[in-house]
Amino acid sequence: MTLENKLGLTDAIELAHAEERLTKKRALELYDKKILDQYEVGTFAGLQQIHGYLFQDVYEFAGKMRTVNIAKGNFRFAPVLYLDEALKSIDKMPQDTFEAIVEKYVEMNVAHPFREGNGRSTRIWLDNILRREIGRVIDWSMVDKEDYLLAMERSPVRDKEIKSLLKEALTDKIDDRQVYMKGIDASYRYEGYSTYRTEDI
Ligand SMILES: Nc1ncnc2c1ncn2[C@@H]1O[C@H](COP(=O)(O)OP(=O)(O)O)[C@@H](O)[C@H]1O
Ligand SMILES: [Mg+2]
Repeated sequence: MTLENKLGLTDAIELAHAEERLTKKRALELYDKKILDQYEVGTFAGLQQIHGYLFQDVYEFAGKMRTVNIAKGNFRFAPVLYLDEALKSIDKMPQDTFEAIVEKYVEMNVAHPFREGNGRSTRIWLDNILRREIGRVIDWSMVDKEDYLLAMERSPVRDKEIKSLLKEALTDKIDDRQVYMKGIDASYRYEGYSTYRTEDI
């Protein structure tokens, strides 16, 4: 079963292709039109703006908090009942050092506020915090998919692996369109979307 979508698609592969193409186009606009600069940095409201922009063409729930409980592997993300409260405390978490920012990212992943698209939108949110607060971003093309997913699976219990993995991939090329586009492609690859290159869209 595919998620209900604005395109009226019921075939999973067709939906995946359309979603990848439409949302990568939006991801590039976030950068090229300097839209990210206008968004809140490090809050759920800021993440809603990113998710809403990326997924506006595909899902009615773009930018909207989920209303169902979800899990991945053995991990259950924050129950809907406590989600609002969890997001308010994440908003207040500090973001003045690399360690604090990754801790905030880990908590936002535990919250997993949207029905779908958390990974892709939250990585853009994370880079926006790093850029603003410490003048660095992650070069996601340097972060191996398996290493990343294992470190994230582990992160609710122990954040050491994700911290060291991301630290190794930090770059000061914060205004480099190529780094951004390759980063989007890597981020999508983690989630199984690798049909189009952002550069070609
Ligand atoms: N077992 C797990 N425990 C905790 N977090 C996980 C687990 N598996 C995946 N994740 C995180 O969830 C993200 C995927 O969430 P999802 O909402 O499907 O985003 P997207 O639609 O962008 O793929 C991954 O990128 C990873 O950060
Ligand atoms: Mg997904």
